[in-house]
Amino acid sequence: MKPGARWLLNLSMLAAGGTGLVWAYCAYLWEPGPEPDDPELFLEWTGQHPWVPLVRTAHLFAVPALVFAVGLIWASHVAPRLTRAWARRRTGLLLAALMTPMVVSGVALQTAVSPESRNLWVWTHGISSALWVVAYLAHQVARGHGPRA
Ligand code: HEM
Ligand code: HEM
Repeated sequence: MKPGARWLLNLSMLAAGGTGLVWAYCAYLWEPGPEPDDPELFLEWTGQHPWVPLVRTAHLFAVPALVFAVGLIWASHVAPRLTRAWARRRTGLLLAALMTPMVVSGVALQTAVSPESRNLWVWTHGISSALWVVAYLAHQVARGHGPRA
């Protein structure tokens, strides 16, 4: 893998994964607290974490870079290894397999209209992208520990 491609991959991964994880915290773990009684405060109350607009914008700028970076290494790093037993690495296979559900669900989130379809894509995106982050880290840690790590 060329150093430029590795850098782009690592940086875009940090940006996409980082903004995604912060967003997940803001949206699903953070508690907004009760609605304020004061009518003036209520007008300003959004019920969502104040970082969400920024994190959403950053995520939407970062993810095309990640998709591009994976495309950049696909022909040289990913595709040849999928069919060669000697080069198999479980975390690599997982990364390759998760790419489609992660990207498709992310895009589908923006076009989902009904609450049911939104829910389906939120779960698909959440599970596939969280697994992707874990697999990516493991893929790096496993380097130098033999071909099957
Ligand atoms: C790298 C790991 C990633 C993580 C941890 C992650 C996490 C998240 C989270 C938590 C949300 C918010 C879901 C919600 O409640 O609405 C989200 C939305 C989204 N993600 Fe990701 N994501 C990742 C990668 C990607 C990738 C590769 C794409 C590429 C298409 C992508 C595209 C999107 C889009 C388009 C949205 C929806 C924006 C909207 O609702 O308007 N994400 N992501
Ligand atoms: C989207 C999928 C994948 C991504 C994003 C990815 C990413 C990476 C990165 C960033 C490195 C470190 C390279 C370096 O430091 O020069 C690496 C190394 C490695 N990957 Fe992957 N990889 C993917 C798929 C795969 C697959 C499918 C396999 C094998 C089945 C694999 C096997 C390896 C091996 C053996 C190494 C260490 C030796 C080397 O650098 O060639 N990877 N991968």
